[in-house]
Amino acid sequence: MKTLKFAVLPGDGIGPEVMEVALDVLKNAGEKFGFALDYEHADIGGIAIDNHGVAFPDSTKTVCENSEAILFGSVGGPKWESLPPKEQPERAALLPIRKAFSLYANVRPGLLYPQLTDASPLKKERIPNGIDIVCIRELTGGIYFGQPKSTTTLENGEEQAIDTMVYKTSEIERIAQVAIDTAKARGGSVCSVDKANVLETSVLWRKVVTEYFAKHAPEIKLSHMYVDNAAMQLARDPNQFDVLFTENMFGDILSDEMGVICGSLGMLASASLGAEQNSLGFPFGLYEPSGGTAPDIAGQGIANPCAQILSAALMLRYSFGENEAAAAIEAAVEKAVTGGIRTGDIAFGLESVGTKEMGAAVLKNL
Ligand code: NAD
Ligand code: IPM
Ligand code: MN
Repeated sequence: MKTLKFAVLPGDGIGPEVMEVALDVLKNAGEKFGFALDYEHADIGGIAIDNHGVAFPDSTKTVCENSEAILFGSVGGPKWESLPPKEQPERAALLPIRKAFSLYANVRPGLLYPQLTDASPLKKERIPNGIDIVCIRELTGGIYFGQPKSTTTLENGEEQAIDTMVYKTSEIERIAQVAIDTAKARGGSVCSVDKANVLETSVLWRKVVTEYFAKHAPEIKLSHMYVDNAAMQLARDPNQFDVLFTENMFGDILSDEMGVICGSLGMLASASLGAEQNSLGFPFGLYEPSGGTAPDIAGQGIANPCAQILSAALMLRYSFGENEAAAAIEAAVEKAVTGGIRTGDIAFGLESVGTKEMGAAVLKNL
């Protein structure tokens, strides 16, 4: 029997709660679709600081290196916010793990089932058939990683902080290819989002994207939009987009907006695909919910596990080629949610269930 070897990094806050449910779903899918799981847990984020003194211990990196993919929860929370910024979970674990495995392509599907339009803050008339878009976010470049990045004290005693936004052609081209591949499998159109009326990096982004698409995918309908307009258009008429394609920070912000118009961040999965292939010939990837550790509801057993479950489905599809099992899990989540089983974040007027019950409903429909 085929065995899927992956690292499990639940992280902090709601991470461990939703991870447990996602693993149950994966086990069940394995029984149905004929694969075994071989996974190893490791600490990352705040829990790793508590247990090992650092947010991304070498031992955790080794577990990841010995795996074909990483299933990730979320990291961070109030407990670690008073540490020096460089030691905090987000900067000392999440960004380094993305960089360490060259996870440059973040795929965030924004899906709102038509039956769930009540959970969206948008008026029903604007999204009568729900929402179905994908955000492709560049994940290892831009202002998140550019140098210099520092805080200094000026001669007059004032403090000054600098972040640097950098992109080079090769970084833009490789993520452009991901946008093209994604669009080919969907509606065939890409809207590239930038701030080319102000930023040098965006001028380059627009030029490289235009040339790359013209050369490699003239059949894809390419358009460009400034990020401020994109934020507005996403709230006005999200389905005008098929593939929303953008750089790191713009993608961070737009994908949270996408999360809320699609009902809740608790439904929004993501795949961060690497430049390297795993031993099976599929992209090595990290799979995580788009949202965070939700400190406001952590420990209460009420977090929505769907984003984590759907992230596990993306792992099956992208890093293991288990397309049928992935589609079955996605269908099971859809059936459970549209059948009326809802956690609090998407209940709006309906009775709500806890994390475990939501997971049980998905299992029942698998
Ligand atoms: P958040 O995404 O954790 O929460 C925003 C809102 O969405 C909260 O009201 C939360 O309850 C809700 N929410 C998110 N996921 C949910 C789920 N599965 N079910 C129900 N509701 C859900 O964002 P935040 O409050 O800005 O950040 C909290 C912490 O998480 C911070 O330390 C932040 O840096 C970190 N964070 C980590 C990641 C990651 O690890 N990938 C991503 C985003 C934020
Ligand atoms: C995300 C998160 C991270 C990001 C933070 C926690 C570093 O918001 O995955 O969207 O900004 O990329
Ligand atoms: Mn974010």
